[in-house]
Amino acid sequence: RPNRPQNQSGPSRGQNPHSSLSLSTRRELYERDFPVYKQPVEVGCFSLDSERRFFNDGRQMRYYVEPDRSPNFDLRDGYKDRFIKRDDSVKEKLDHMLRWILANRSKLSARGTTASSCDLDIDFVTWRGHLTKLLTAPYETREGWQLAVTRFRGTLYISEVETEAARRDQENRTERHEEMMYWGYKFEQYTCADTVHGRPDPGGVLNTNEAFCTVVQTRLADHRLLFSGEVDCRDKDPNAPAPPACYIELKTSAEICTPKQRSNFHRFKLLKWWAQSFLPGVPRVMAGFRDEEGVVVAVETFPISKISHLIKNEHNCWKPTVCMNFCSDFLSFVKHIATEDNPSVVYLLSWEPRRDVTFSVHRDSPYCFLPHWFVEEMTS
Ligand code: A3P
Ligand code: MG
Ligand code: MG
Repeated sequence: RPNRPQNQSGPSRGQNPHSSLSLSTRRELYERDFPVYKQPVEVGCFSLDSERRFFNDGRQMRYYVEPDRSPNFDLRDGYKDRFIKRDDSVKEKLDHMLRWILANRSKLSARGTTASSCDLDIDFVTWRGHLTKLLTAPYETREGWQLAVTRFRGTLYISEVETEAARRDQENRTERHEEMMYWGYKFEQYTCADTVHGRPDPGGVLNTNEAFCTVVQTRLADHRLLFSGEVDCRDKDPNAPAPPACYIELKTSAEICTPKQRSNFHRFKLLKWWAQSFLPGVPRVMAGFRDEEGVVVAVETFPISKISHLIKNEHNCWKPTVCMNFCSDFLSFVKHIATEDNPSVVYLLSWEPRRDVTFSVHRDSPYCFLPHWFVEEMTS
């Protein structure tokens, strides 16, 4: 495995919050006006099939079918005998996005007729999930992250590196936890059809290799972003607005029975739900509330635009502006430190809760993540 970052105990750590060597995640530093965040525009989509093969189209799109008032979905059904689990030991890094970029280069307008006319007109390329981790970092107390950054032809590519702690947690999961990770996907199977007039098929095999991903372009402050995120389903109404406004995020959560549970739901779960869907402009989350036995007892819609009002009564709660300002400052920090334009150089940004973000530089190391097929095709 690659070496640990070398400057983790560097002189500036934890002292100067905005020194050039580290970046603080302290909330107070990010409580200013909400930054500019342009309405995300879908520039394309892609699909991954049951064997995780890439297709430059929307063949894996699914259509939301409203459940009954008391659904009684058994989320445990099929776990033992009708479940094909994606092999998460295969690290795909940015590969699917890079394939999409190569197949759609002409759509990503180039900088006119200047010398760099074959370069992308984009500052950052990454997964939506990596940005979600940035948005929630000022409030995260448990899980740190590592993000590898490479500057190539003027664009900064950001790809996550699994932390040691995450790898340990994955190895030590209990059987109950393994099964509960299935429940979220099972809820999708109860509420989604493969065709616009179809019905859900909860008796079928559930294969988590399959995915439909949207690719959106937007701007946060002065950062031009291109990112992709998995989309659970869309509104099947032909009069629904264009993507991403017709997309629906599906979630499951434990049934709320006490004021304490409600408060925790607002403080922790809604933060994650808001960050994940706000980024690509997905306007609503459909939540299935389940009991201890994994039976969905109620469903409820959460419009993303209403979440910030819902949480206003919570004492000391999270704030969308802190999330977005931290993300914007993080991207500025990356632009500032990742100066060498070279596909075999990785700037590794590391963060642990209650610490500052620090970085180390790696040349021709196992952290390199831009594949040769991408570098060669972009250079030719
Ligand atoms: P829930 O979020 O309803 O638990 P997503 O909601 O992002 O579309 O993900 C679908 C499901 O994948 C989740 O449903 C959960 O079951 C599983 N899942 C996603 N991210 C996970 C993670 N980091 N750890 C464990 N399970 C995860
Ligand atoms: Mg999903
Ligand atoms: Mg979901």
